[in-house]
Amino acid sequence: MAIEEEMVAGEGTAVTANQTTNDTEAFENKLRPTDFSGYIGQGEVKQNLQVFLTAAKNRGEVLDHTVFYGPPGLGKTTLAMILADSMKTQLRVTSGPALEKPGDLASILSNLQEGDFLFIDEIHRLRMPVEEILYTAMEDFAIDLVIGKGPSARTMRLNVPRFTLVGATTQFSKLSNPLRDRFGHVEKLRFYEDGEIGQIITRSAGILEIKIDSEATEILARCCRRTPRIANRLLRRMRDFAEVVHDGKITKKVVIESLKNLSIDVQGLDFSDQEYLKTLCEKFNGGPAGLSTLAAAIGEDEATIEDVIEPFLIREGFMQKTPRGRMATDTAFMHLGLSELS
Ligand code: ADE
Repeated sequence: MAIEEEMVAGEGTAVTANQTTNDTEAFENKLRPTDFSGYIGQGEVKQNLQVFLTAAKNRGEVLDHTVFYGPPGLGKTTLAMILADSMKTQLRVTSGPALEKPGDLASILSNLQEGDFLFIDEIHRLRMPVEEILYTAMEDFAIDLVIGKGPSARTMRLNVPRFTLVGATTQFSKLSNPLRDRFGHVEKLRFYEDGEIGQIITRSAGILEIKIDSEATEILARCCRRTPRIANRLLRRMRDFAEVVHDGKITKKVVIESLKNLSIDVQGLDFSDQEYLKTLCEKFNGGPAGLSTLAAAIGEDEATIEDVIEPFLIREGFMQKTPRGRMATDTAFMHLGLSELS
């Protein structure tokens, strides 16, 4: 999500963000559940968070700093919004790359209200001087400002309101140890089951007043890479096809035809996934192949391959990461209709 200015999400939750509001984001925001009861799946994470929230509320404390990690589109931002809503406080939203200088973060921290939540998306991309400001802020609710330059420079400690930092990352291992150690709660978000994705599609279709039958929902759910963001995006595309090419209702026929038009296969592999697997199987004989070699071969950047393409392919058993490089499995060869090359 590209984040820039200020937006408001849900009752009682002012979201300060660097937000380029476009159609997709407006659509995503409309579908975001605003409380735990509307949030489907991630049962353990939800249960734990509800216990921690209640405990913090009962003690009159802020929730401990929390980090969510996992592939994109699984609902990390949504959970941060639900947390802030549950505590009836504000959520300030920013991202690692948006915080260029320590002053950017210092200014956000000093403008927080007592009990606010600060959400930093892509927290693994914080620059070190900015990250260092966070250490004392997280631990002591204070920041050390450097006044002046050169030999006469001195530091001044400034208290900031008690707050909860919610970090989100697709790459937990890229967090430095000092930052990782300062989170009280570390929650991993998992890919969703097809049944849960089906429930999300039904819920979203209800909100958007889209007509979709249960057979179509079931087929569509299997093609969403177990990811709510993709489910909501595909639902929208199905609606386009249903309204323009068919009679407005999403049926099995509409889903099958439309997925074909979008180059999405029966297991939800999109064009990039298929290209990645084909390259690994056909050009590199199933591997092992290095990340940089594969990235060059398909013209995709390494971070996209690692964060977006591979987690799902690994989870579905199409490939493995080995010390010698990426390797396709028999399942991948079968899926592509290739007999394994020897
Ligand atoms: N939209 C995005 N993630 C969701 C979830 N887990 N449940 C319901 N709607 C969602």
